Amino acid sequence: MVNMFVLTWILLAFTVFQWPCVPVSAGSASPPPPVAGDLVQVDRHIWKATAASGNSDLVFNFPSGLVILLDSGDGDYVLPSNASHVPLQGHGRGWVLPELSNSSDSAWMITANGSLSASFEHGQPRLAANASLVFLTQHRARPYADIHGDGFSLDFPSAGRLSDALAGFYWGTMLPCVIERTAATEYPISEGYVVSTLADKYQGTYPDVDHEFQVKGRVASGSSLDLAVVRRMIELDLRLAREDPCHLWRAPCSLQPDGRREYHIRRNSEDGATNANMFLITGNVELVESVWLYVARTKDFEWLRGNIPSIERAMWLVESHIDNMGRLWSDVYYEDQVMKDGRETMSSALASRSFGLLAQLERLLGRNDTAQHYEEMAKILVDTLAQPLPMGYWDQESNRFVDWVDRSGVVHDHIHLLANILPVMLGATDPAQTSHVTDMVQHEMSEFQRFPTFLSARIANYTRSEIGDGGPYDLCAAGRYWCWDAAYWAWRGRGDVLLTQLETVAEMGRSEDYIMGERYDMDYVYYIDGSPWHGAAHYYEYPCVFVWVMVAEFLGIRPTIDADILVAPRLVDAATIELNQNAYQLRYVYGKDSFVLTNLGSAARTFQLDLSALYHQSTFMIRLDATVPEKPLANTVVLVQPGASVTITPRQTPHIDELKL
Ligand SMILES: *[C@@H]1O[C@H](CO)[C@@H](O)[C@H](O)[C@H]1NC(C)=O
Ligand SMILES: *[C@@H]1O[C@H](CO)[C@@H](O)[C@H](O)[C@H]1NC(C)=O
Ligand SMILES: *[C@@H]1O[C@H](CO)[C@@H](O)[C@H](O)[C@H]1NC(C)=O
Ligand SMILES: *[C@@H]1O[C@H](CO)[C@@H](O)[C@H](O)[C@H]1NC(C)=O
Ligand SMILES: *[C@@H]1O[C@H](CO)[C@@H](O)[C@H](O)[C@H]1NC(C)=O
Ligand SMILES: *[C@@H]1O[C@H](CO)[C@@H](O)[C@H](O)[C@H]1NC(C)=O
Repeated sequence: MVNMFVLTWILLAFTVFQWPCVPVSAGSASPPPPVAGDLVQVDRHIWKATAASGNSDLVFNFPSGLVILLDSGDGDYVLPSNASHVPLQGHGRGWVLPELSNSSDSAWMITANGSLSASFEHGQPRLAANASLVFLTQHRARPYADIHGDGFSLDFPSAGRLSDALAGFYWGTMLPCVIERTAATEYPISEGYVVSTLADKYQGTYPDVDHEFQVKGRVASGSSLDLAVVRRMIELDLRLAREDPCHLWRAPCSLQPDGRREYHIRRNSEDGATNANMFLITGNVELVESVWLYVARTKDFEWLRGNIPSIERAMWLVESHIDNMGRLWSDVYYEDQVMKDGRETMSSALASRSFGLLAQLERLLGRNDTAQHYEEMAKILVDTLAQPLPMGYWDQESNRFVDWVDRSGVVHDHIHLLANILPVMLGATDPAQTSHVTDMVQHEMSEFQRFPTFLSARIANYTRSEIGDGGPYDLCAAGRYWCWDAAYWAWRGRGDVLLTQLETVAEMGRSEDYIMGERYDMDYVYYIDGSPWHGAAHYYEYPCVFVWVMVAEFLGIRPTIDADILVAPRLVDAATIELNQNAYQLRYVYGKDSFVLTNLGSAARTFQLDLSALYHQSTFMIRLDATVPEKPLANTVVLVQPGASVTITPRQTPHIDELKL
């Protein structure tokens, strides 16, 4: 029985939201006409400009805005520009966007078969195409599309706000942060140069810590431009490790504009009593995950084969800091204002994971002996993790993982979130430990879920010899903690938590024109001055992490080794999701009784399916097309022909032991 009221709403929802990937705008009706030539509208949102006869030159003057050009002569590059920059030379495709994301003016995509140049005159963008024919496509101020014009459309209850945030973060921060051929053109090394802030603080690019999230956001964005940036970032990191003057293969904390590299940074505590090494192994551990994501997306085994010796050397640094009892003396992993002089639970867990990922990459290359070595390294770290103190990291009295143990053997612990959830996610814990951590996370929910993820549950308890001399700067919420917290909730199948987190960040983004600061929720125990954030303005971290959590964790679309794409949604409401970005080209419709996946690409592709969180069960039936009866879904990897759809339905009578907990 279909309730007519519901049906009406479904139809209405389709009418209102179902213009998949059609650029929409509320603003200016048509683009500026060319200086010399004609302009005609050829479709609802598309105009065609033709040059005056004999000319192969079309020039457009826009009233204001930001310019983003694609340069695809020798690889994909993005050239972001605004009135304070020099003229730019690109090719094929360019964009002019209104300054503010909430503008009712349109953004315009200009496509031309030829070179494009952009300059500013009195703050007004001037775009010139070396072509006799140009198309101008109208989009909203922050397009629901990537730089190639490949769009997305999301339809579920809060999809509009989340789509605005996705677009606002991508166009307002992620693309402008790539300065390889703009601000960095004259730097000694400019390939792979992405900045962390577009405000004038920290001018470097940061292989330790920042590149992890820059890479994740760009991988999730799904565009081929962003993938090219990711490859160049990885190659930059490998080069910098190779050129470590101490031959330790360290990924440096930073590469500065003048070419200076910071391989070694030590910081003191507020009271001067302790000091610690910043990010000794962080960039190296992260590098392996970035490589894994790149290879899982591209299946470029030749690129991997060429780089594997450098990647192994990078993990050799990590091995060299593991003692005979399987404890990794990493010092500071993520929090550079918490003086962790010793071994951290979090770094051990993440290093173990990277050894496991490297083992998978080695197997792809058929290097089984090497793979086995890294599997053993992963196991050594994981086995030690769950051991009780003082050999391991588990506190048998408080029944949780401690944050770190210093080189004097003193335990430091203020109920650190990642120190507890990461070992559980990795399967390092026994059932009793898992249940203690689950209970603790539940008990401390209100502390941990502060905008949207907080470092630890007792930030007031850090001492002056634990806090760095830069102040209690990391004792708050940060994108890096959120990224792993979201991974944990996705792993638990808790789309409801992910949705709340995404909405929280999207709402803060909206109130700030999608230009986010560095650290949030500081107006709490420390830095009480009425501002929700401190640190660098226009910072990369929340935008990149948002895009990753949204696409990879919540929509559940991500790279996998075992298929072309993994589809593991954590949605909580019926939804229609369409992603036309180069890496995705798919649509799925999640309904109460069925899940329909369509391959929108032009080639047959394999999809690895994990629908367990949607239907709370693990056995399914599949119908490959309307002409064949449905059959049990035996393999989780399905081949879908171009343009074809498969329908998956949860099996009617799940055995009780198949129900997901
Ligand atoms: C333009 O770019 C400069 C330098 O990158 C930056 O300082 C400025 O904030 C940008 N302006 C806008 C409106 O984005
Ligand atoms: C684009 O230009 C190149 C060289 O000028 C030409 O070979 C090609 O056919 C053009 N493509 C289109 C779609 O016009
Ligand atoms: C413009 O295009 C023409 C032919 O496509 C080419 O011969 C010419 O060199 C180009 N000019 C510039 C300034 O790029
Ligand atoms: C590596 O191991 C896999 C099974 O894990 C096996 O199929 C393959 O033949 C092995 N390759 C080599 C070169 O030994
Ligand atoms: C630890 O933090 C809690 C809550 O923030 C506070 O109530 C308690 O007094 C603190 N303990 C110490 C020793 O500072
Ligand atoms: C648009 O955003 C700016 C900057 O965040 C804000 O000052 C302005 O009030 C907003 N305008 C509208 C119409 O919401």
